[in-house]
Amino acid sequence: MITYSRDDDGIVTLTLDDPGQSANTMNATYVAAMSAAVDRLHAERDTVTGVIVTSAKKTFFAGGDLPSMARATPEDAPALFKLLSTIKGDFRRLETYGRPVVAAINGAALGGGLEVALACHHRIALDTPGTRLGFPEVTLGLLPGAGGVTRTVRMLGLAPALTTWLLTGRRYRPADALAHGLVDALASTPAEMLTQAREWILANPDAAQPWDREGYRIPGGLPAAQLPAYPATLRKQLKGASLPAPEKILATAVEGAQVDFETAQVIETRHLITLLTGRIAKNMIGALFFDMRAVNGGLARPAVEVPPATRVAVLGAGMMGAGIAQACAKAGLPVVVKDVTPELAARAAGPGITTTADVADLAGCDVVIEAVFEDPALKRDVFAEVLPVVAPDALLASNTSTLPITGLAEGVSRPGDFIGMHFFSPVGKMPLLEIVVGARTSDAAVARAFDLGRRIGKTPIVVNDGRGFFTSRVIGTFIDEAIGMLAEGVPAPSIEHAALQAGYPTGPLALADEVSLTLVQRIRRQFEAASDSYERLPSHELVDAMVDKHDRPGRSSGRGFYAYGEEKRTGLWDGLVSLATPEGRSVPLADLRDRFLFAEALDAQRCLAEGVLRTAEDGNIGSILGIGYPAWTGGVLRFADQHDDFRGRAAELAARYGDRFAPV
Ligand code: NAI
Repeated sequence: MITYSRDDDGIVTLTLDDPGQSANTMNATYVAAMSAAVDRLHAERDTVTGVIVTSAKKTFFAGGDLPSMARATPEDAPALFKLLSTIKGDFRRLETYGRPVVAAINGAALGGGLEVALACHHRIALDTPGTRLGFPEVTLGLLPGAGGVTRTVRMLGLAPALTTWLLTGRRYRPADALAHGLVDALASTPAEMLTQAREWILANPDAAQPWDREGYRIPGGLPAAQLPAYPATLRKQLKGASLPAPEKILATAVEGAQVDFETAQVIETRHLITLLTGRIAKNMIGALFFDMRAVNGGLARPAVEVPPATRVAVLGAGMMGAGIAQACAKAGLPVVVKDVTPELAARAAGPGITTTADVADLAGCDVVIEAVFEDPALKRDVFAEVLPVVAPDALLASNTSTLPITGLAEGVSRPGDFIGMHFFSPVGKMPLLEIVVGARTSDAAVARAFDLGRRIGKTPIVVNDGRGFFTSRVIGTFIDEAIGMLAEGVPAPSIEHAALQAGYPTGPLALADEVSLTLVQRIRRQFEAASDSYERLPSHELVDAMVDKHDRPGRSSGRGFYAYGEEKRTGLWDGLVSLATPEGRSVPLADLRDRFLFAEALDAQRCLAEGVLRTAEDGNIGSILGIGYPAWTGGVLRFADQHDDFRGRAAELAARYGDRFAPV
């Protein structure tokens, strides 16, 4: 796993190369190999001038061994402590070796990979477009526990380490890492990187870590008066939610900064073990590593060979059309965007994008993605207009967020090639793509849409057609629940607060304003039209009153549940109180929180039972990436599976708040 080679100058290169794996991780093979390499370095110390640590893989080092971490139980705590102590002990023996040690970071160094690099005295990163450095641990419910917290704090200072690296989970380009001071130099070729590494070694025979030098102080110091404020600041940043990973990262950093290096390392290990053996890290690893890998790997992609897309037509240069065009162009696909006038079309202009009002310019496109107004007749017309012009077998995709695909497909001559490709706004930032399969959509169309989604860097879930598909339907359920609470007389600030406390990124009333109440109303009316037994809820009256009576359809009009001034929320609308039932009702906070989490989980279970969802993985990933279901749950269906008594609690909520909570 680690090749040890010494040259004539006495410089040893340790090349990490886990056999049979695509990337290096901190698995058992690595641990044994690293110990052996460090033993040998110490044994041969007299003949060693310095050490270069690099990798033979495309990436430098991928980080922790997540499959084994995901299995950790509380009984494993002693073994985990021993393992982490070994890993950290070897890093420590490397950084106190008494010879310069340089990390030659030839590709991505994330999590444990960055920790390997931090245990070196000098870091040179290869400045290639794909290289990223960061600590994604917090996004998996973990903390960088192989010295990552301890060293980053000592290198950058408490506040920069926390707010830039440890608590964000962000992945930085090498140039940003250089600016922040976590790497020391960049190189543009592997050869240049190795030359720089050798030169640095020869120029710095006395290399040591700053914290091992006399008189070392943490950068920025530790103003005692500020320390107690950290937890409160974090609480504010988390909007009141209580999440173990950020809390433990903060505790590790603040406690560790006040003690010596070795004690800080033990504190870090203990906090990591608490996270590792708990449920939330398992949920998050389950969703964001395992489910994600399955979904992106094509779990729901039919196993058929299809030609790759070569030229994309986007219809509509509005917010979504422009975003979709940019995403395709960024992936190197030629794109033609059509709108009704050249001026409107020009709004989507950008590198690799041609804009036009002339349908003839779409000749030869083998993918059409339609993003015109949400109007079925208009959508039918634009497809009829472009079909004679584009490639005879072009994939025909609609970005509709609410209109059933099977119905739209009836308007085109080739329904087998018709599919939903539901992107999320803003397209450049949102990682999810919901592929919607109509009753007559072919497997080849699904595979083509899936491959296109992957090519432009999206995570594509595949769902069957239905009202609101999966994401719009379930987010509608969340919003409905909040509006129902409002109708019951629960104060609007309590509703928003309960959701934030449960871990949602945005309060549901603010969200309703964003997506617009007109859309919420439209999806619900489709349900009503389709079923005689559809439960009419007080929330429905309230939405109708907001849209039809008070003309407050949401943010785009500047009037919704919130009042807006200059695009910003200025406060809740003061007429809201008048919409509640006069009796009012006091609902405990725990019930408010659970009503959100359960309403969505039960609806997702119904989606699975009805076949709207084809796999649980798609449901979990779609809920986290697309509609803001709290990531700590591991996704909407895992929440139901992992809850101690999901059915019991659902039955309790059903008795108190209505049949929609009845266990599925
Ligand atoms: P938009 O109103 O920003 O853009 C629609 C564009 O279509 C306009 O530029 C309009 O001039 C153009 N258009 C109208 N008739 C046309 C025609 N005959 N040929 C070519 N272009 C024509 O709307 P937005 O928000 O971009 O939404 C577009 C579609 O995407 C809708 O179906 C919507 O439901 C869906 N969607 C919207 C999301 C959002 O967050 N806004 C999210 C996901 C899907």
